[in-house]
Amino acid sequence: MLNDIQEVLYDENQIQQKVSELGETISREFEGRNPLVICVLKGAFIFMADLVKKITIPLEIDFMAVSSYGQSTKTSGVVKIIKDLDVPVQGRDIIIVEDIIDSGLTLSYLIDVLERRNAKSVTLVTLFDKPTGRKVELEADHKGFILPDAFVVGYGLDYAEKYRNLPLIGILKPEVYEK
Ligand code: XMP
Ligand code: MG
Repeated sequence: MLNDIQEVLYDENQIQQKVSELGETISREFEGRNPLVICVLKGAFIFMADLVKKITIPLEIDFMAVSSYGQSTKTSGVVKIIKDLDVPVQGRDIIIVEDIIDSGLTLSYLIDVLERRNAKSVTLVTLFDKPTGRKVELEADHKGFILPDAFVVGYGLDYAEKYRNLPLIGILKPEVYEK
């Protein structure tokens, strides 16, 4: 698996350190509230699991699955809800946990959905951000690492469903997906 990685951007220790910092920030920000933390599947599942362990206040979790990329490495611009939330969001403080923001299309769509359902507040947390890929204006409230405009895998992120279990984040060798 590591043979397919061209360059490791952040290793396991660097990621865990950053996730701890984000957890502390969120714990302070949401003190005295009971946020609903939403994991955007599948990519954010590892970040979500690590992050909530570093949040020290009571919270609830739920999951949502959306599709935008399919098997390709570039966005199609089409966002579809594959799995919706189990609980209503009306009047709730929502924290969206996302793995990576690229074009911003997925998240701007999701935020719109949650606001139309009358969430009290929507806070966006992403571990990775590729600001040069934006097609719509969107900024996360909390972000871990800024990445270059390259296709990355690991720590939950996949190429054709592979590499999610790498504990690091790295750039995939182009020959792996240009085949
Ligand atoms: P958008 O473009 O809507 O993208 O902001 C968000 C979703 O696209 C996926 N994504 C990636 N997945 N490596 C991946 O494995 C990448 O470099 C990458 N860039 C975007 C991801 O699923 C995210 O939720
Ligand atoms: Mg993906």
